[in-house]
Amino acid sequence: MPAPQLRGTLRLPADKSIAHRALLFNAMGRGSAEVSMHRPGADVRSTAAALADLGALATVDGDPDDGTPVRHRVTGGATAHHAALPGTADVALDCGNSGTLMRLLAGAATTRAGRTVLVGDDSLSSRPMERIAEPLRAMGASITTANGHAPVTVAGGAPLTPTTHLLRVASAQVLGALTLAAAAADGVTEVTTPGPTRDHTERLLAFLGARVERAGHTTTIHGPAIWDCRDIDVPADPSAAAFWLVAGALHPDADITLDHVGLNPTRIGVIRVLERMGARIEVTPADAAGPEPAGTIRVRSGERLHAVDLGPDDVADVIDELPVLAVAMAGAAGTSTVTGASELRVKESDRIALTVAGLQAIGVAAEELPDGWRITGAPVRTTASGGSALVITGADHRIAMAFAIADLVGVGTTDCDVDDPACADVSYPGFFDDMGRLL
Ligand code: S3P
Repeated sequence: MPAPQLRGTLRLPADKSIAHRALLFNAMGRGSAEVSMHRPGADVRSTAAALADLGALATVDGDPDDGTPVRHRVTGGATAHHAALPGTADVALDCGNSGTLMRLLAGAATTRAGRTVLVGDDSLSSRPMERIAEPLRAMGASITTANGHAPVTVAGGAPLTPTTHLLRVASAQVLGALTLAAAAADGVTEVTTPGPTRDHTERLLAFLGARVERAGHTTTIHGPAIWDCRDIDVPADPSAAAFWLVAGALHPDADITLDHVGLNPTRIGVIRVLERMGARIEVTPADAAGPEPAGTIRVRSGERLHAVDLGPDDVADVIDELPVLAVAMAGAAGTSTVTGASELRVKESDRIALTVAGLQAIGVAAEELPDGWRITGAPVRTTASGGSALVITGADHRIAMAFAIADLVGVGTTDCDVDDPACADVSYPGFFDDMGRLL
């Protein structure tokens, strides 16, 4: 039901794209380092657990649930010749719900001697894995999938061939997997994606001392690559910030500040899109420290948002934020469209189908397109509707949180409950506690 006001300052959970990489890349490096982060979600905890199973994660302190920073001591498995995950024993690693973990690990596992079997939950086991297996095989890796899905089995340790890849999907996960595998190949590997992708892999590997560059949509890695472990403090997740940015932009009485959020330009498309819709957002960058920019973001109530059209060139930078941007569109004046976002159908759920079905359930005029949606907005309500619709999340954290925001700001004709609020923990443990802090 609509909240009377939304005010306060939050320190959000760690960016999971950066956290996975900070842990994993250090586990392939030379030496050891400390990776610290606030409130890691279940996906990042899967990475920590997998690295602990490999013997790469020595100590953990801090409490993920009480807001104190969690500190991981990571020991790298680099050989004298190249970066590598440690260990020679055969292992099975549970990637939980995390596509990023499974795909990056598949690439990384080619560098360790021994067989690595990657398993995941039901959602992850239905997601496409040949997109990494096929190009890894082209480099000479021994990797199998079960009809294109998990379990993914990598028999690592064999020398790989430097290769020029032209990917069919613009995926930072695939690019990252190939970049990690290329570390153990003697020569230059090039990966070109058909569109823009987040650049955390390149930034972090360069920070650790690997020879890796990105020019346009091409990443070049010079193998064999070896890098040093380095301490990293992971900033808060801009994809988590997106929920409060949409809430603040839609709500008539909001003033929300989000501290130490990652400001990587490939990740803050949500700010640019909300500004195009008329939102009032201020960004104050902090002094640069480490491989990723960070700073404070403040959002305040303003004029009613207006509709926006997002096409293929826009969606890469907001791919994870599209469900909550659909909520913004449902409160905006006019008809908005999203096209070029068919990748949404193979995320943790079919996010096109579930976003549109959820909006329809709360009385929004929303229509599915093959690669996106069309949504006609209506003003938000400031009073409870009486009665409540049930929104199906498909156990997808971003769908659950997007519709919790819809309910919080009175989007649609009907209040709503989500069928699985707990799944928010995948990326945002304490999401509902943070909501309580703003009331
Ligand atoms: C991610 C890349 C994106 C994104 C995912 C995280 C990453 O997926 O949707 O949540 O950390 O590399 P794709 O690589 O499939 O585009």
